[in-house]
Amino acid sequence: MRKKLIAGNWKMNGLKADAKALATAIFAKATSDMHFDMLVCPPMNVLGFVAELPHTGVFVGAQDVAETVKLNGAFTGDVSAHMVHDLGATWTLVGHSERRQYHHETDAIVKQKAINAITEGLTTVICIGETLAERDAGKAVEVVRRQTRECVPAEATAENCVIAYEPVWAIGTGKVPTTADVAEIHAAVRDELAQVLGAEKAENMRILYGGSVKPENAKELLNVDNVDGALIGGASLKADSFWAIAEAVK
Ligand code: PGA
Repeated sequence: MRKKLIAGNWKMNGLKADAKALATAIFAKATSDMHFDMLVCPPMNVLGFVAELPHTGVFVGAQDVAETVKLNGAFTGDVSAHMVHDLGATWTLVGHSERRQYHHETDAIVKQKAINAITEGLTTVICIGETLAERDAGKAVEVVRRQTRECVPAEATAENCVIAYEPVWAIGTGKVPTTADVAEIHAAVRDELAQVLGAEKAENMRILYGGSVKPENAKELLNVDNVDGALIGGASLKADSFWAIAEAVK
């Protein structure tokens, strides 16, 4: 039985005062015995600060880690998985479509980042998803299968890795795929995971849906076969809407 995961990606939002207010409001409702897992991924400027607030029942993660295998060195602007861990974070995202789009991250780079994070002991959410052009060309399944194959490293397990399927055209747009489309992709990802990692790991690994998840559509999306939680951008910036999504978990 896969425990659902409700994950918030704050993206490039949050000065110290905002982050404190948001994190405190989210953490206040959480307990250690919830029937779902919860994760928040603040931006790097406040990551250490948020990780130091009492956060029983909620994991704190980064949004990215450096590509280099080096723990430190001459990599201006980069923050290694080792440094993220040192800040008190225990999770990270890698391969978010905004990283792929604005920083030209390839599947090979995403895989290396996942390896670095897993090696450091961070639980790693690997993001995948097709663009609108790819969906319109009928290539969505092919694209997510390729991304799964190319981005998920051999060292991934159900304990140290989670997949997040986020169709690029659904992120921040208010558009969501049909539940049938979500089911089709999630089944394809699980099948591809079985080929990469073996049936048992694939069966236990969580696959999140992300892209315009809101309190209004959370229940429907979270009930789709093989949807093991949600990765939430905009609606994770308010404690009320983030929690309303979490409360849609059965
Ligand atoms: P959104 O973002 O919920 O604002 O669509 C999701 C994401 O990019 O993780």
